[in-house]
Amino acid sequence: MRILGIETSCDETAAAVVEDGRRLLSNAVASSMDLHVQYGGVVPEVAARSHIEVILPIIQQALDDAGCTWADIDGIAVTYGAGLGGSLLIGVLTARTLAIAHSKPLYAINHVEAHVYANFLTETSLPGLAMRMEQPSFPMLAIIVSGGHTQLVLFRDHFDYTLLGQTQDDAIGEAFDKVAKILGLPYPGGPSVAKAAAQGNPTAFRLPKAKMSKYDFSFSGLKTAVLRLAQAQIGEDYGFPSIKLPGRLSVAQKRDIAASFQRVAIETVVDKAKLACDEFAPSSIVIAGGVAANADLRRQLTDRLHIAIEYPDIRLCTDNGAMVAALGCFKASLNQPQADPYSLGIEPNLSM
Ligand code: KG4
Ligand code: ZN
Repeated sequence: MRILGIETSCDETAAAVVEDGRRLLSNAVASSMDLHVQYGGVVPEVAARSHIEVILPIIQQALDDAGCTWADIDGIAVTYGAGLGGSLLIGVLTARTLAIAHSKPLYAINHVEAHVYANFLTETSLPGLAMRMEQPSFPMLAIIVSGGHTQLVLFRDHFDYTLLGQTQDDAIGEAFDKVAKILGLPYPGGPSVAKAAAQGNPTAFRLPKAKMSKYDFSFSGLKTAVLRLAQAQIGEDYGFPSIKLPGRLSVAQKRDIAASFQRVAIETVVDKAKLACDEFAPSSIVIAGGVAANADLRRQLTDRLHIAIEYPDIRLCTDNGAMVAALGCFKASLNQPQADPYSLGIEPNLSM
């Protein structure tokens, strides 16, 4: 069974072919990130226009790299939410049209659930991609940490899961991005905060951990605490404009603030993951979303959870078509409902 996956929920236009839910045959991605850097964040209209320009060539590349023609494809999986409305629309309308034109079954994919399924990819002939050794087993605890989501989800089986908790305000990746702005570090913020943090002292400053109900998260207070800390470090009060902070903070101050923020943000996630491990004794743990790239997260999880965790290649952690195709394979093989190619809509606020 070969599924073509299409992903356009944010700034990546991506398509991939996956066989039997585990073998990655191709993974084509075009990012419009370069166009957004000058604005310090993704501009929805710019992202949507880029998707229109590259989506068909990217899909063709995914087929070519996989050595497939349409006759070799058993179904099309497409992200229909969550994400930016204009961006989602391009992917969904393209997938619907192709499903009708080539008479293929269509599967509607939840972007966040797809991130989890990057962990089911274990084989590829593509060069340079580090794959997991084996697929995760159930019950599986999924730690979902991305720019839009922070969630703990317990999967008892495929398509049988419980949302244990989630952020009540900002996502953890969003907090990294906002702290990067406060410190004047380049967009996207996650990698640049992590890089600065690696050279700072993580215990230089005490920042607060939000007190939330058992498995829920909150990161907006931490972000504000970083802003107040930065203002205090240069001897200014809360009225000082954040836009002028980067010019007044020293490199050493930025590194220490980044390291102190990162320690608390990551600790918050690991605290709750540990609680869930103790309560549910999962047989595997998977990490999903862009923040899975964070080295401190990986270190803290290894130190505190005492259960081996395998990570997908970083290119499979950030947005891609492979994860969409992988989830599509399981939907197809486990007889999950197909989407109607004449009516599938987008759901920008879709949650798990
Ligand atoms: O999953 P993803 O590619 O897109 C969403 O679906 O949100 O995640 C992107 C997020 C961004 O907020 C980015 O700053 C963050 O992941 N990120 C990181 C790191 N690399 C990317 N956050 C912390 N440390 C990193 N090394
Ligand atoms: Zn994502």
